[in-house]
Amino acid sequence: MKRKILSIVMSVAMIATLLVGCGSSDTSTSTSGSTETTAKTETKTEATVTAGKKVGVAMPTQSSERWINDGANMKSKLEALGYEVDLQYAEDDVQMQVSQIENMIASGVNCLVIASIDSAALVNVEAQAKTAGIPIIAYDRLLMNTDAVSYYATFDNKGVGTAIGKYIEDNKKLADAQAAGESYTIEFFMGSPDDNNAKMLYDGVMEVLQPYLDAGTLVCKSGRTSFDDTCILRWSQETAQQNCENYLTGFYADEDLDIACSAFDGFAYGIKAALEGAGYTDANWPMITGQDAELMAVKNIISGKQTMSIYKDTRLLADKCVTMVQAVLEGSEPEINDTEQYNNGVITVPSYLCTPVAVDVNNYQKEIVDGGYYTAEQLAE
Ligand code: BGC
Repeated sequence: MKRKILSIVMSVAMIATLLVGCGSSDTSTSTSGSTETTAKTETKTEATVTAGKKVGVAMPTQSSERWINDGANMKSKLEALGYEVDLQYAEDDVQMQVSQIENMIASGVNCLVIASIDSAALVNVEAQAKTAGIPIIAYDRLLMNTDAVSYYATFDNKGVGTAIGKYIEDNKKLADAQAAGESYTIEFFMGSPDDNNAKMLYDGVMEVLQPYLDAGTLVCKSGRTSFDDTCILRWSQETAQQNCENYLTGFYADEDLDIACSAFDGFAYGIKAALEGAGYTDANWPMITGQDAELMAVKNIISGKQTMSIYKDTRLLADKCVTMVQAVLEGSEPEINDTEQYNNGVITVPSYLCTPVAVDVNNYQKEIVDGGYYTAEQLAE
């Protein structure tokens, strides 16, 4: 088996060398460059150490811009270090993701980076990887019910929820409203029940907002405030739009919706469409929250159709994840800042939590444009 894998890896290396030709000495920018290094030079560069090692990167979907960026960042950062990368997207089809990972294992990857669709559906294929001696890094979404995962790189998921809750609390001045006996209407659009992040985010939101719901300062006219009642399978924009349409026709005929507490930019787009369909205008447009600071979302923030988003710098996440890949493959020490919060039902996974940042019309320039995430031109298009 090992010999077969080795010969596959070597053939890939040879084909790659033929494809790029022999002129390039740049080992830092492409996969093929790294394989070339093996053949041509003894220099102990980082690429020499990683040469011939292949990383399988399994991403959930290309339907949301954030995952496209995540995949592209991971690929370019790993390739820059000399790794070969097999990047696959499963378009939110769980079985497709299982097959992609099986194929990666069969093709002899040395390490797997997985951003799961259903965090608990990969247990068998994860066990196969473990048996084959292939370490797994969980990317952004925790892999549940398995001992085959070595590290987890993510954003502080509960922190995303508290940031959304606090944004609503501060900007609607809920404490003052409570003291004055005023109230706002609110509806909730929470993430996928098969994604551990979604429940953590919900817990963070409710840590801030539940007291205001209890006090009647926030009024949810649909009565749907529990996670089970507000979660949206596979983070579907269409379901969010449908839910919002149902809420608006069912509960908001006589009174406007003031706040759409949404856990994802994709939901915010669906909510926006539902509101437009129901005749909402600038005069009564509600506060709409989101997550990911997608390009479209930031444009909507600028035009006033979305109020805020949670900026998660996927470049930073990829950097942290890459240090974990290096740790499992080269024996280096990854940066870890949480060894307690992320128990997956079997083990507590050593994690690095990046810090999410709430962005709105007042700080997107500083956080996002000055930080080089999007250019002013991209936002103006
Ligand atoms: C991620 C979010 C993302 C959501 C939908 C979650 O697991 O943490 O950043 O918005 O998936 O793709």
